[in-house]
Amino acid sequence: MLKGEKVGLRARYDEDIPILRTELYDDVVNGSRAESRPWRPISPSSKDRRLFVDDSEEGHVPFSVVELAGDTLIGIANLWGIDTHHRSAHVGLGLLPSARGKGYGSDVVAVLCHYGFVVRGLHRLQIETLADNFAMLRAAERNGFVREGVLRKSAWVMGEFLDDVLLGLLAEEWKATH
Ligand SMILES: CC(C)(COP(=O)(O)OP(=O)(O)OC[C@H]1O[C@@H](n2cnc3c(N)ncnc32)[C@H](O)[C@@H]1OP(=O)(O)O)[C@@H](O)C(=O)NCCC(=O)NCCS
Repeated sequence: MLKGEKVGLRARYDEDIPILRTELYDDVVNGSRAESRPWRPISPSSKDRRLFVDDSEEGHVPFSVVELAGDTLIGIANLWGIDTHHRSAHVGLGLLPSARGKGYGSDVVAVLCHYGFVVRGLHRLQIETLADNFAMLRAAERNGFVREGVLRKSAWVMGEFLDDVLLGLLAEEWKATH
């Protein structure tokens, strides 16, 4: 397990899946904001690609996030789009509603940076988030991510186009502070 100050990032267990599906994706607004695809109901018996792990997929490393204090499941985190030529990857995370606003998100980003830069030897990490996702923007910037641009009206979310913000962090910037 990878450990931060408050959270641990471990493998996905089968018993995590129904909890994560209900808490993160059953709600239409949460689901629509978290994903770049249209929300649709997923039957419990289906192998939901968002949550079932295919260990042969080299470019995607999914974690379940637990609270270190009680070993309770609190969300998901992943490095995706891992590019071993350009040595870059994208950062993604989502916490259960009850776990938000307690500093866990910032800690998850910190652990993913350690995994990306130290364990994987990557050179650049990138985050895309909706421009009104203030908690995500702040969690990224607290970890040194820099706003690199706005993708104007790039996301169709619940009946309107919203801006996405692109943030990046380079290994040398991160290492200078660690
Ligand atoms: C985005 C998310 C991961 C952030 O994690 P979090 O644990 O809620 O955030 P934190 O408690 O670490 O807070 C990070 C910073 O944002 C601030 N913040 C938290 N919620 C906020 C809100 N609703 N509005 C404005 N600022 C907020 C915190 O005060 C903190 O700032 P500080 O370090 O200056 O005190 C989490 O809220 C979440 O899972 N949201 C739904 C899914 C999602 O949006 N995923 C990201 C998709 S790119």
